[in-house]
Amino acid sequence: MTRRAVVAGTGHYLPERVVENAEFEATLDTTDEWIRSRSGIERRHFAAEGETTSDMAAKAAERALADAGLTVDDVDAIVVATSTPDLTFPSAATMVQSKLGMTKGFAFDVQAVCAGFVYALSNASALIASGQADRVMVIGAETFSRIMDWTDRSTCVLFGDGAGALLLEAQEQPGTNKDRGILATDLNSDGRYKDLLYVDGGVSTQSTGHLRMQGNQVFRHAVEKLASTANTALDRAGLSAGDVDWIVPHQANIRIIQGTAKKMGLSMDNVVVTVQDHGNTSAASIPLALSVGKERGQIKEGDLIVTEAIGGGLAWGAVVLRW
Ligand code: ACO
Repeated sequence: MTRRAVVAGTGHYLPERVVENAEFEATLDTTDEWIRSRSGIERRHFAAEGETTSDMAAKAAERALADAGLTVDDVDAIVVATSTPDLTFPSAATMVQSKLGMTKGFAFDVQAVCAGFVYALSNASALIASGQADRVMVIGAETFSRIMDWTDRSTCVLFGDGAGALLLEAQEQPGTNKDRGILATDLNSDGRYKDLLYVDGGVSTQSTGHLRMQGNQVFRHAVEKLASTANTALDRAGLSAGDVDWIVPHQANIRIIQGTAKKMGLSMDNVVVTVQDHGNTSAASIPLALSVGKERGQIKEGDLIVTEAIGGGLAWGAVVLRW
């Protein structure tokens, strides 16, 4: 028997304010048509004034607990993937712990930008496999609207805010690739590409900074690295693309999503797509898409799922799991 991290519940939260592409036409030299055709994005949500990453993360976690029919007392650890925490410290995860009323266990953040949720899942799976925790709440939550340069049309139209959560629990499974739960992961980064996507501020430079991206350069790396990491993770699980029911990719750009599916030899019928409604929510995009995909009735128990993401660093990776 093998101890696996199995999804016991999902939840997500999107801030109330929806911003359609057309809103940007008033302040920027851009059009709904450009944003839609180059990125696939139609709208995104922005957090309200005073609404923070941990507020959204806690709401998503509460919904995942309700979905699992469990309470916070059943949770041993909280991992939050974010690059936009409320404060420099303590971690957003400990703030979520306090908002949920959780007084035991442990909580920490993972920072790998848009690949953050894949990194967090991989870590949570290892915590469960090693016996350190029986149930881990894994959350991706971001307020990227706080680090946009609203005069830069090449970035500020692409990002949004939100949070998604997965409650993972330890289950003894037979130990084959037909098991439920996380079957394999693959993580990568290459700091030589740090200047392609970064925030030009931070604690030790004493500013908050704004997101800067050479979008077309990131694009060039994306399809190849995403298809490659997804195939590596599948290979590690003793599976191949033909076994996949759903790709649940990081939602940055519909053309990257389509290109990656094509390179893997899969149809768009096998891809959960939410980028049109959420924009790029960085580490929140995959758990948002998993929760929405389940709500839509796309993702069902027993389905084989591959999640993949790439972002600042560059950092990228994939997780193969059976729902
Ligand atoms: N409206 C109108 N024109 C625009 C806009 C806009 N909002 N933004 C840029 N343009 C212009 C550019 O100025 C350029 O004009 P020029 O040819 O006169 O110089 C032209 O459009 C083409 O610009 P490109 O950047 O080459 O356009 P591209 O087709 O590459 O699309 C995009 C840009 C959408 C950013 C795309 O490159 C992309 O999605 N890249 C990957 C993003 C990504 O995956 N990031 C990783 C995750 S994010 C994270 O980790 C935080």
